[in-house]
Amino acid sequence: MTHFLDIHKTDASDLRRIIDNAHAMKTARAGRPKGAPDDDRPLEGHIVALIFEKPSTRTRISFDVGVRQLGGQTMVLSGADMQLGHGETIADTARVLSRYVDLIMMRTFEEDTILEMAEYADVPVINGLTNRTHPCQIMADVMTFEEHSGPIKGKKVVWCGDGNNVFASFAHAAKQFDFDLVFTGPEPLDPEPALSGLYRVERNPDIAVAGADLVVADTWVSMHDPQSARERRHNQLRGYQVNEALMEKAKPDSLFMHCLPAHRDEEATSAVMDGPHSVIFDEAENRLHAQKAIMRHCLGV
Ligand code: CP
Ligand code: NVA
Repeated sequence: MTHFLDIHKTDASDLRRIIDNAHAMKTARAGRPKGAPDDDRPLEGHIVALIFEKPSTRTRISFDVGVRQLGGQTMVLSGADMQLGHGETIADTARVLSRYVDLIMMRTFEEDTILEMAEYADVPVINGLTNRTHPCQIMADVMTFEEHSGPIKGKKVVWCGDGNNVFASFAHAAKQFDFDLVFTGPEPLDPEPALSGLYRVERNPDIAVAGADLVVADTWVSMHDPQSARERRHNQLRGYQVNEALMEKAKPDSLFMHCLPAHRDEEATSAVMDGPHSVIFDEAENRLHAQKAIMRHCLGV
């Protein structure tokens, strides 16, 4: 069974092939209406379940559109509306779903939920974000970087802010794609210890971004963080805002990324988000192409 659970759990050669296929599929359908199917439709006759236990705009829509472009059909499900939200076990849900659908994509809270789904499902499972990681996002980010700036190998990527789930997948990607990752943020919001060795730390954001090829920001309060922590986090993270003055310290042709949704003028200013370095909407688009390639990898089609 080929799941896509995390970037460090998929071979580097497979990750490279997924990115290259995503580029090829994007190029092949350039200029077509969004709803037009691809020439190659390997998901014809396939049904994909998209399960959400947290809100989503990009993941929900890009997976739904991607499956349709590949000729398949989708079911978009809210975990709360399933028996899953009323006490049925993940293991039983996985075994039941496997009798109906060909692929499961799930966004959830605890990593253990997606691991249990993958353990008991007879069909591939894709991680659409947990409290710990967001691998599909970083596949789109690597694709976007390479579209604009060429191979990411050996490049300097600087993460500004909270050491969260999106950072964790960047850390996994740094090893697999061989780029230099720097974390700049306050010590209480450091990434989890299991990631140490995959990135460098520089507390001073001005020093961190010097010579960066890519600067990345994300929300200061993630969906799994308690709202009661909002004010404390803002106070801790204010000094790590990505603004024009900070971007000036990076390379002149550096890129700015944010997985979105953003809180404008908090983690990044509108001047940066809408400025010349920003590729945030290419990033959002590339979720579609990258995930189509991930689904083909999982199904071997
Ligand atoms: N970046 C991302 O995963 O966006 P959504 O939460 O809208 O899916
Ligand atoms: N870190 C954010 C990413 C949202 C796509 C969160 O988990 O809420």
